[in-house]
Amino acid sequence: MTTTTPVLSARGLVKTYGKVVGLDGVDLDLFPGEVLAIIGDNGAGKSTLIKCLTGAVEPDAGEIRLDGAPVHFRRPQDARKAGIETVYQTLAVAPALDIAANLYLGRERHRPGPLGSVLRMIDKKGMRRDAEKALTDLGIGTLQNMSQAVETLSGGQRQAVAVARAAAFGSKVIVLDEPTAALGVRESQQVLRMIDQVRSRGLPVILISHNMPHVFEVADRIHIQRLGRGAGVITPRSHTMPEAVAIMTGATTLTETPGQT
Ligand SMILES: Nc1ncnc2c1ncn2[C@@H]1O[C@H](COP(=O)(O)OP(=O)(O)OP(=O)(O)O)[C@@H](O)[C@H]1O
Ligand SMILES: [Mg+2]
Repeated sequence: MTTTTPVLSARGLVKTYGKVVGLDGVDLDLFPGEVLAIIGDNGAGKSTLIKCLTGAVEPDAGEIRLDGAPVHFRRPQDARKAGIETVYQTLAVAPALDIAANLYLGRERHRPGPLGSVLRMIDKKGMRRDAEKALTDLGIGTLQNMSQAVETLSGGQRQAVAVARAAAFGSKVIVLDEPTAALGVRESQQVLRMIDQVRSRGLPVILISHNMPHVFEVADRIHIQRLGRGAGVITPRSHTMPEAVAIMTGATTLTETPGQT
């Protein structure tokens, strides 16, 4: 038997908000180069789960490992430094800034020499050049002008910028919470293609989505979250969409519907 170390793993994660149980002992494994979808009804704990994994929330109990070593993220920057890039459900772009500035938000690059080191001048040209390359690498042809303000972009293009930022800087794991929720068909397909691109580079992706066709199109495995607990892990081959939804809503369980092997 071959055993692969998960890139990211969690055991027994618990997070309560006063009397509300967000997570009630959740396990998760993310393996190299896979797209792991997380599905579940509203309030099932999907966002809380990835917030624990990415330092936005500190779990009350449980263990998180990155490449097999225990980690304790106290803030999102800790996870980012460790190579985990996240696009949270509430989209974090700065509308008034341009595309390149958004890509480098919080990581602004300074000009070489004393202009940068002494005067702290931002290397706009270099950032635009590299931003363009990062987006082209991801197959986003529709964003040509890196100095365009993000507020003038369409919702899908904004989302593309947020996902591109994650893809450009994530070195270990990319986490996307509902990246296609507000998008049209064409824009959603673009984000799904980006996820494909990221995976083909060998980077694993965690994707939270309510959109079953999207999940079944792009995911290698699907973690089902129900009422703060993991209800099981399935694949697009082992189960149908209606079966996945039935497990998600509690109409059936993974034990009752074990699926095709
Ligand atoms: N900051 C908070 N304060 C209090 N309760 C919270 C907080 N964040 C989440 N919760 C509660 O924890 C539970 C899980 O919420 P979470 O946001 O993880 O759900 P979700 O699966 O992401 O739902 P959705 O599909 O609506 O995004 C819910 O009952 C929610 O009300
Ligand atoms: Mg959520």
